[in-house]
Amino acid sequence: MKVVYSIEDLRKTVQTWRKSGETIALIPTMGALHDGHLSLVSIGRSYCQRTIVTIFVNPTQFGENEDLATYPSDFIQDKKILEKANVDLLFAPSVKEIYPSDFATQISVKGLSQEMCGAIRPGHFEGVATVVTKLFLQALPDTAIFGEKDFQQLQVIRRLTADLNIPVKIISGPTVRDADGLALSSRNSYLSESELKIAPVLYSTLKSAAQAIKANNSNIEHICEGALQSLLTAGFLSVDYFDVRDENTMMTVTKIKGAERIFCAAHLKGARLIDNFKL
Ligand code: PAJ
Repeated sequence: MKVVYSIEDLRKTVQTWRKSGETIALIPTMGALHDGHLSLVSIGRSYCQRTIVTIFVNPTQFGENEDLATYPSDFIQDKKILEKANVDLLFAPSVKEIYPSDFATQISVKGLSQEMCGAIRPGHFEGVATVVTKLFLQALPDTAIFGEKDFQQLQVIRRLTADLNIPVKIISGPTVRDADGLALSSRNSYLSESELKIAPVLYSTLKSAAQAIKANNSNIEHICEGALQSLLTAGFLSVDYFDVRDENTMMTVTKIKGAERIFCAAHLKGARLIDNFKL
């Protein structure tokens, strides 16, 4: 696996592949890699001849009181994991390479970015949208793969790609979970042993709420409120939202028509967890 740190070197490699007619899949990450990330690599490989993984802990998507300084990172281990997964190229730029001191542009996706995590984490999706747009333009891949674990992020990226006519096909991958149902996340390493016992309740609560909604479609609000309360009873400290939303607009719904998901964000002391479940 080739490792490059500059946009120039990334483009040189991509150009060589393009000259020989090879297709390219891009998988953006912030490192601290787990099987969820690797599932996206496999999807990328099934679509394209070459895979590029990027590792960049993007400072602009972290709020002032968030975990930028402590975000888990193990570059040597990540490199080994990617080599074993037969990734062709790792792009690991510095903050200066992505954001030179005179950097002044921001991509903002209206509407979608203001709901749920966007409301709780102002500026977060602008940071994501800006860095993903830059990575697309730097690597110019045929396809890019994103996880459904971060479903709102996926939809923000789909919107900006369509709106800006970026010729990259966006493909999504299902959420990879531990045996107990907990969605894999780099931030799970923040959880204590006792919190790791509570964390899977998030997924089981999403599943039970989905069953209840299927059985009683007209009572969505009441079911979500009950689910939120049961998360607090299980030991979550607070719940930012537990909502049924339209998958495309991210707006709340009162009836299930076939394109909805339940979305939840809840806090344990160690970490804020997000997850979702398709209805
Ligand atoms: P990161 O959290 O490292 O995630 C990178 C990609 O892996 C995202 O597309 C995310 O949805 C996916 N992913 C994370 N956990 C997953 C799981 N359990 N199963 C399947 N896929 C999973 O998301 C980001 O980084 C950043 O916001 C980024 C898009 C790289 C922009 O900085």
